[in-house]
Amino acid sequence: MSHQDVINKPGTYALFLVYGLNRPDDIDSVKAALDGVPATVKSLRGRFPKEQVSCVIGFGSEAWDHLFPKRKKPAELAPFAEIKGGRHVAPSTPGDILLHVRATRMDLCYEVAAAAADFLGDSVFSLDETHGFRYLDSRAIIGFVDGTENPENEEEAEAAAVIGDLEPDFRGGSYVFVQKYVHDMKAWNGLSTEDQEKAVGRRKYDDRELAEGAKPENAHNAVTNIKGDDGSEIKIVRANMAFANPSQNEHGTYFIGYASTFAATRKMLENMFVGDPPGNTDRLLDFSEARTGTLFFVPSKELLEELAE
Ligand code: HEM
Repeated sequence: MSHQDVINKPGTYALFLVYGLNRPDDIDSVKAALDGVPATVKSLRGRFPKEQVSCVIGFGSEAWDHLFPKRKKPAELAPFAEIKGGRHVAPSTPGDILLHVRATRMDLCYEVAAAAADFLGDSVFSLDETHGFRYLDSRAIIGFVDGTENPENEEEAEAAAVIGDLEPDFRGGSYVFVQKYVHDMKAWNGLSTEDQEKAVGRRKYDDRELAEGAKPENAHNAVTNIKGDDGSEIKIVRANMAFANPSQNEHGTYFIGYASTFAATRKMLENMFVGDPPGNTDRLLDFSEARTGTLFFVPSKELLEELAE
């Protein structure tokens, strides 16, 4: 089984498109898109071989039931259950189809998204569209390098993001969780660099990790560092992008995390929003508000082809 482009690097530009299905809908249009979008990407890759064009397609829980009622369902595909901590909330927002488009040029991202919109036609409506960009040397908009602790090589990334023996029927698939954050940049920039570094758990200038004694328990990279029963680190593949509408004072991070089991991502979110122990919430959340939260299942390439039939 081959996986969709779920372990690719975040890229230079990305479009995150979340669609809702109009019901009663035109299922044929959706199926045409499942065939037509990968074909468009293939053609663009042939014409622009260096521009790393890709598009991952995922389905929300309700969409799966509606579009593929006779098929088995991935075990963890369910509407994301909101996480309510003492201070912070990770809301659950709707989404039927996710398109995660990446390329080194925005015009090529547009080309894929425009073709998708054309295939999908009236069968869908837009719930969210976010235009992400690579910021400086792959930094989140809050000024820190993002993605450092992602799995190091292809083998590790596949182990983290792609379903294997756990769900043989969905081998080659992946669970992807998206969350759109908006930051209070005024408050964030009001912190000293040292306090920002304590919130992230790494140094700002050179990205070096803070030493054990210097890293607070509520640092972002402390609460999201989770371990399995055998003590080994559990990783996911993150492809976050910065986005911004500066004239509207909107500065954000589009979080997107691919995992072979959603339980891993969920545990990280619970550590951030509730805390483990409860109350030890992620310091970054004091400056960041989650506006969306949606879980999708990304089928293997082979299953996607089957679903298009
Ligand atoms: C407010 C939005 C977020 C921002 C700005 C952000 C940014 C960062 C930055 C700058 C790092 C350090 C460099 C790195 O290792 O990548 C990091 C690490 C990490 N983040 Fe986030 N992140 C956000 C949300 C999330 C969410 C929602 C999750 C999980 C559900 C998450 C999971 C992780 C993980 C697993 C690490 C690596 C931890 C380790 O060192 O072991 N992040 N993030």
